[in-house]
Amino acid sequence: MNKIDQLYQELMDSNHTVVLTGAGMSVESGIPDFRSKSGWWKNIDPLTVATVDALEEDYDLFHEFYSTRLQTLGDCKPHDGHRILAKWEQKNLVHEVATQNVDEFHMMAGSKQVDQLHGSIRTFRCHQCGSSASFEQFKNKESCSICNGQIRPNVVLFGEMLPEHAWNSALHHIERADLVIVIGTSLKVYPVSQLPQMTQGKTVYINKEVNDHHSFFDLIIEGSAKEILLAVDQLIR
Ligand code: APR
Repeated sequence: MNKIDQLYQELMDSNHTVVLTGAGMSVESGIPDFRSKSGWWKNIDPLTVATVDALEEDYDLFHEFYSTRLQTLGDCKPHDGHRILAKWEQKNLVHEVATQNVDEFHMMAGSKQVDQLHGSIRTFRCHQCGSSASFEQFKNKESCSICNGQIRPNVVLFGEMLPEHAWNSALHHIERADLVIVIGTSLKVYPVSQLPQMTQGKTVYINKEVNDHHSFFDLIIEGSAKEILLAVDQLIR
């Protein structure tokens, strides 16, 4: 049985399926990932732009980096792969999408049960008092209207805790899953990197780059997220 048929069979046999995604899931929408040769961290040290220290000690650089990411996001849209996962949810084949991505493409594609483990780049708050803020305030480098604090996107910065509700929900689904499908992530960032090994269910890895680090998966399909999801969806139709 080829790997696409195998994944199809696993999906059909599973009563509770979780999909865990990373930046590789959005590359075919035009958003770079982080650690591939064309990734953000190839030319930028994440510690200088994506930490609380970076925000507090060099807000201009922090602001420039996230402004660039927002411009890159621009009019990019979810692709067929995002839409297929939403359709599989409607067909009761997928029960949760846990994502490290901050682009909200899963929700924009129609997925309902989505846990954003690293927050969202599309909403903003004051770093000091936590009051919600607007994109315009961030774009115009305005200070918080409540406490004069610094405005930031609601992304989880390195060293910060993950959103408790999203993390607990993802754990809940992973622990009761029959099948966990991991798509487009290097699994290099803790604690999300631990999730695939916290399930009793079958595990599948769909990624462009595969190395020994991923040998614990039951099924590995090397390649493009969109193409592989389209191929499996052909069998489901
Ligand atoms: N299809 C499938 N996989 C792909 C594709 C694609 N079209 N394009 C790239 N990939 C793979 C790459 O080979 C890489 O292994 O996606 C993976 C993306 O890994 P990272 O760039 O490390 O991104 P991610 O795992 O999501 O990073 C985790 O790190 O920088 C922080 O907060 C940020 O959420 C992010 C976290």
